[in-house]
Amino acid sequence: MEATRTATEELAEGLGTARELTLALVAPYSDDQVETAHNAIMSPLAWDLAHIAAYEDLWLVHRYAGEPLLHPELADTYDAFETPRAERGSMRLLNRAEALEYLAEVRERALAVLDRHGAGDGRVHEMVLRHEYQHTETMLQAIALARLVPEGGLPVPERPAPHGRDTGLERVTVPGGACSLGAPAGTFSYDNERPCHRAEVPAFSIGRTPITNATFLHFVEGGGYERREWWTDEGWQWKEDYDITHPGGWSVGGTGWRCWRLDGWAPLHPDEPVVHLSWFEADAFARAHGARLPTETEWEKAATWDQETGTARRYPWGSEAPAGEAGDGARRANLDQDAFGPVPAAALSDGASPCGALGMLGDTWEWTSTTFHGYPGFVPHPYKEYSEVFFGPRYRVLRGGSWATRSRVATPTFRNWDLPERRQIFSGLRLAWDA
Ligand SMILES: [Fe+2]
Repeated sequence: MEATRTATEELAEGLGTARELTLALVAPYSDDQVETAHNAIMSPLAWDLAHIAAYEDLWLVHRYAGEPLLHPELADTYDAFETPRAERGSMRLLNRAEALEYLAEVRERALAVLDRHGAGDGRVHEMVLRHEYQHTETMLQAIALARLVPEGGLPVPERPAPHGRDTGLERVTVPGGACSLGAPAGTFSYDNERPCHRAEVPAFSIGRTPITNATFLHFVEGGGYERREWWTDEGWQWKEDYDITHPGGWSVGGTGWRCWRLDGWAPLHPDEPVVHLSWFEADAFARAHGARLPTETEWEKAATWDQETGTARRYPWGSEAPAGEAGDGARRANLDQDAFGPVPAAALSDGASPCGALGMLGDTWEWTSTTFHGYPGFVPHPYKEYSEVFFGPRYRVLRGGSWATRSRVATPTFRNWDLPERRQIFSGLRLAWDA
C-alpha cells in the first residue's frame, strides 16, 4: 500500500510536532542537568537526544533509503542494546549542543529522503515518530527520579478538582466469554501486539479505577511493608535489601506525607492514583486485599471488549481520539505530559470502558500478573531487539500508558514491560478478583 501524499505530509508534520515537544521538554533544564547521569538505571538526557537522532538516521535514512549513516562512529554508543543504561554515564557522550546539532542534521536528511521517496506504507516513519515520543516519557522518568527542577521552575498545570469518592477498591464486573486480544490488522502496531487473536476469559471483577494514594497509604500505615505473608520471597528480599517502606517519590515529615511531582514536592493527594510502585509492591498490596493483579488478557478485555457488539473498541470509550487530540472538550484520558502527574481517580468520566472502568488509558501504567511473551504466531519485526529479547519469566507486562505518554502512542493494545523491582516508571495498579 502506497501512502497518499496527504499521509506523507501528515507524517512529516507529525515528526515536526514530536520534535518541537522534545526540544520544549529539555529546554528549561541546564546543560549540567541534561548532560549528567543522575542514576545508574537511567540515561543522561543528552544520551536520549542523540539516541533519538541515531535511531532516526538508521531507520529513515540508512535503512529506508540505503544511504550511509551520518555518524557511523556513534552507532554503537547510541544503540540501546550495545550500550546498556548503566554504562552511559561513564562514556564520552555528545554534549547537549552536539546532540541537538545531530538531531537537526539527521532530521534534514530524513525530510529530504521523505521528499524524494515518499513514506511508502508509512510504517517506518510512524515507528520512528513514536520512538521519539516514547523517549520523552523515558526522559520524564529520569527527570522525576533525579528530582530535577529547572532554575526558573515550571508552570504549575491546572488539575481537575478532587473527586473524593473512588478509592480503587470499587469493582466492576466483566462477564465471561471470548474476546479479542492484540492490535487489529490495518493499524500501526508493534510486533508484540500481533497477531490479533481470540482468548477465552472466565468472568472476573476489576477495579473501577486504579488504587489511589489514600488507599495505598492505608496499606503503608497498616504495616503493609512488614507483613511477610503478603510478599513473595523475591519481593521481600528486594524490599529488605533496599529498605523500601513506601512508594517511590513519597516522603513523610512534620506536615505529613508528600510526593514528588515534576514541579516539586506536593502534599500527597488522597484521590490521585498511586505511582512509582514496583511489581513486588503492587502484588503485595493485592494479596493484602484478598485480590490479585489482573492478567493482561483480563486488562485488555476490561478496557476494550464491548459485550453487546462482540467487538473490541479502539479506545476504552469508543473510537474518538483522546482528549486534546479530539478537540471536542470531552475529558477521556490524562495523557500528553500536561498534568505533571496523575489526576484524581474517576475525574475523567468521559473515558469509561464498556464495563464501566475508568482511567484505563493514561494516568498510570498498570502492572499485570503476566510475564512478557509473544502472542501465538509472534514474528519479530522489524528487529529482534525490539521485544523478543525481553521475552521470558523476568519481565512483567504493564498496560494503559501514563500521564506522560503521548496520545499518539497510547492504545489499549500497547504492551510495556519492565523488571518486577523497577519503579522509575509512572506505574501503579488496579486490582482484580475472581468472580
Ligand atoms: Fe530507543
